[in-house]
Amino acid sequence: MALPPAFLDELRARTPLHGLIGRKARLVRNGRQWKGCCPFHNEKSPSFYVYDDHFHCFGCGAHGDAITFLMRAEGASFPEAVERLAAEAGMQVPKPTPQAAARERRARDLHEVLAAAAAAYQRRLAQPDGRAARDYLLRRGLTEATIARFGLGWSGEGRGALAAELKPEGIEPAQLVAAGLMKPCDPERPEAGLVDMFFGRVMFPIRDRRGRIISFGGRILGDGQPKYVNGPETELFQKRRGLYGLDLAREAAFRGATVLVVEGYMDVIALHQAGFGGAVAPLGTALTAEQLGLLWQLTPEPVLCFDGDAAGARAAARAAEVALPLLAPDRSLKLATLSGGEDPDTLLRKEGPRAFEAVLEAAKPLSVALYDLLSGGRPRATPEQRAALRGQLEAAARLIPDRVLSGEYRRVLLDRFFEEQRRPVSGGARRSPADRRGNAMAPPPGLQRRPIDPAGIRLERARNLLAILLRHPALLPEVEESLMALDLPAGPCEALRQAMLGWLQEAELLDSEALAGHLAQNDMEDAHAWAIRASGLCAAAHPTAQPKEALDGWWHFFGLLRGEAELIEDRTEAQRLLVERNDPAAQQRLIRLSEALAALRGGESDAAAEDSSLGGAPAGVPMGSEAARDDTIG
Ligand code: UTP
Ligand code: MN
Repeated sequence: MALPPAFLDELRARTPLHGLIGRKARLVRNGRQWKGCCPFHNEKSPSFYVYDDHFHCFGCGAHGDAITFLMRAEGASFPEAVERLAAEAGMQVPKPTPQAAARERRARDLHEVLAAAAAAYQRRLAQPDGRAARDYLLRRGLTEATIARFGLGWSGEGRGALAAELKPEGIEPAQLVAAGLMKPCDPERPEAGLVDMFFGRVMFPIRDRRGRIISFGGRILGDGQPKYVNGPETELFQKRRGLYGLDLAREAAFRGATVLVVEGYMDVIALHQAGFGGAVAPLGTALTAEQLGLLWQLTPEPVLCFDGDAAGARAAARAAEVALPLLAPDRSLKLATLSGGEDPDTLLRKEGPRAFEAVLEAAKPLSVALYDLLSGGRPRATPEQRAALRGQLEAAARLIPDRVLSGEYRRVLLDRFFEEQRRPVSGGARRSPADRRGNAMAPPPGLQRRPIDPAGIRLERARNLLAILLRHPALLPEVEESLMALDLPAGPCEALRQAMLGWLQEAELLDSEALAGHLAQNDMEDAHAWAIRASGLCAAAHPTAQPKEALDGWWHFFGLLRGEAELIEDRTEAQRLLVERNDPAAQQRLIRLSEALAALRGGESDAAAEDSSLGGAPAGVPMGSEAARDDTIG
């Protein structure tokens, strides 16, 4: 008998793949994945990537999961590999009992029942009966393609219609009960018959991580209560253990999408339609520890995005509380908050994808958001109030089991506490050094954020890019060509670029003092001072940054400033040059552009601090950068 798929899923989920493979090959963190030299063929430069649940070698094509890895690397048979992994994960390999076989059959049957129901709901949406529902979805801005992609349907008016429709397919009412689609109309009197769980509702199929339908959510048309109904807990459906959109988000995450959690199903759908393929939502409950575990399989730092209302703030606080005891250096969070009572769906409708992108960019690292949540943005005037806050901050840090990380949180939280005590917050708008380091372009702390300002963000990025060169002019020859091609905001940026490029032609020594002197001679002291103003400047622009760190930072900002289309063109050109010249400089340029492209498409990864030797994100770059991904090295 085959092993139950649920057991194998659990086994894979409980086996950290990089740990397993790390015993055979030296792996280095590379953005969201790990990278190293392939253990299956001889290579000098690493083309072997380890993701959360599979590995892939771009050199020899080796590919598989934890079980296949053991089979290939050690010549184990399938049962041996499973047995060994199970022992390490502390799991029992299920014995092939008749009951287990029956359960497996039943689960397979249930998936089929749910799939048949979804097809029936979809058909109904397309019929005259589903007209109002279809109009409703179109009015809410969904395209036909989106409706089809999410498999949305119409329940009809109930009264046993689903059972009647599925009867010719051999599906019995008892199976519909087991699937959570019907229930006894009076639990005390089974003989009274069954009623439909869903009627008069738009149907949202809920899928597991592998894309199999496990339940449905149903939304009423227009106003009315309850707005959403979800299927009951069944053998297949446990609300705590799933996320709406997870199957699609996994795919998108492998292609580099930012993984983010929003509150509602409609938010997920609207976000996917707008190009944010990493969006998921909890299933009608607050975010659970199990759901955080699922997210961390996709990325070390998912972004939780809460609506800009009181309920959103409460949800953020609760999520932080659930997360703290689970944090580790490679398991963290960012928190983003919408303003003015919007949810992602309404924001996208009113202001478009750029506006939501700015929300993501302004996401705060958990350590920063935590302070804001605990202090409530209020200044603490009396010693008693301050002591209370300090106690809360220390208690929060103590919840983190990793000793080193806990110490870091304590330090960051208290640093800010003492700084704000010295300079009391005015309207929550002061920023601590920790805050600046963590998230340079983020608006000031406090749940109410400034209105989003994409032009302002672009200007700050350009300023960072120029400041790095002002502090490290030795980089100029290497980036000259790219700097010239860049479309910079008008004003001091443009003037500074011209002046630097002019100076480069005549300068004898490429050092920052000489450059400053040149700018002063040309009446550009103000522009110079503006560009290197400390507030909001990344670590790469600091005079003490290492050349490599500065260069990494420069390319990071370049990637964010250059348009995606232009970057792709740049890269094609670099590929051509590499073929033509095959020299290290051309190769370097190709790698840089690939990284820049990844940063631009990128999500929020702080893999930065962990490594940069294999093309990881630059250390100390605060904007949330992304290292080269599989789609940029092919
Ligand atoms: P919201 O009311 O914020 O959902 O509830 P929404 O997606 O913005 O709804 P639209 O835009 O009006 O369609 C967020 C989530 O909370 C759960 C659902 O999972 C919903 O997606 N919920 C909400 C329920 O389970 N029951 C309800 O009555 C309301
Ligand atoms: Mn909504």
